[in-house]
Amino acid sequence: MKRVLVTGGAGFVGSHLCDRLIKNGVDVLCVDNFFTGNKANIAHLLGNPLFELKRHDVTFPLYVEVDKIYNLACPASPVHYQHDPVQTTKTSVHGAINMLGLAKRVKACILQASTSEVYGDPEVHPQPEDYSGRVNPIGIRSCYDEGKRLAETLMMDYHRQNQVDTRIARIFNTYGPRMLEDDGRVVSNFVVQALRGEPLTLYGEGSQTRSFCYVDDLVEGLIRLMNADDLHQPVNLGNPGEFTIKQLAEEVRRICGSDSELTYLPLPEDDPRQRKPDITTAQSVLGWIPKVPLAEGLERTVQYFRERVQNSS
Ligand SMILES: NC(=O)c1ccc[n+]([C@@H]2O[C@H](COP(=O)([O-])OP(=O)(O)OC[C@H]3O[C@@H](n4cnc5c(N)ncnc54)[C@H](O)[C@@H]3O)[C@@H](O)[C@H]2O)c1
Repeated sequence: MKRVLVTGGAGFVGSHLCDRLIKNGVDVLCVDNFFTGNKANIAHLLGNPLFELKRHDVTFPLYVEVDKIYNLACPASPVHYQHDPVQTTKTSVHGAINMLGLAKRVKACILQASTSEVYGDPEVHPQPEDYSGRVNPIGIRSCYDEGKRLAETLMMDYHRQNQVDTRIARIFNTYGPRMLEDDGRVVSNFVVQALRGEPLTLYGEGSQTRSFCYVDDLVEGLIRLMNADDLHQPVNLGNPGEFTIKQLAEEVRRICGSDSELTYLPLPEDDPRQRKPDITTAQSVLGWIPKVPLAEGLERTVQYFRERVQNSS
């Protein structure tokens, strides 16, 4: 039986990926250091004979026998990745080196979770994969953006130099149940604020745009990319629907049935003005297109947070 390693498997995306792989009858080894991951995200899998959990930090080498590696380990929200920026860079870079070393040794196919942040504050819109981006190398987001760019470089070099079977997923904003309440990501922020009846915090005028992909759609894209033949170039995975942050706030208020006010704070440094994936490659090569509309994904997310907010009050 094929054995699949998911690093960062106790996190938001990783735990949904573990769920889906196990549902597909795959043997899963989940590795996590629980920096932003949570045992509650995978507690329901612990008794499953297909599931194994290992506490491990990917900045250290890992010796296991696996056939496929999804390398997702890395804090994804600014609050967490800026908490210890040096550790964030180490997680991306040393983590990629260690997982690529493992892939090379055991001849496993490895997929790197990269990000739309590799495009920085783009002057090309929407962003296709051959746009090389506009990233500030010395800003407060650089530990994450440049760390992910270097992880991509390593993937390509291990492929060219050592014939490692690599995949690179450039993930755009993804949301859904199991996001952390307090990590500053816009969807969870708005939902929790609306459910608590607190004002919704917008940065700038809320006119910056983002695209929002529901987590189930992303997981489907990751699995299709991993299973594609000979696809080593980066592939964008995201929902091309584009919304201003203000539109998102209004949609969240509507779904939560909340009359919270909107409050405005200054834009943080290096905050991109617009972000929208060009998913032509994913569509044509993987036959992948996101299916869950924003309103439906938000309903499911609100349901999850409603229980948490009720339990904590
Ligand atoms: N969610 C998004 O919108 C989004 C967008 C672009 C890219 N991504 C990428 O997808 C991946 C998963 O993101 P997420 O949203 O689930 O974030 P998350 O913070 O919920 O999950 C990351 C997981 O990695 C674990 N981790 C962190 N450092 C580690 C280390 N050194 N060793 C082992 N485990 C470690 C954390 O404990 C956590 O479980 C990340 O690589 C992220 O950069 C996510």
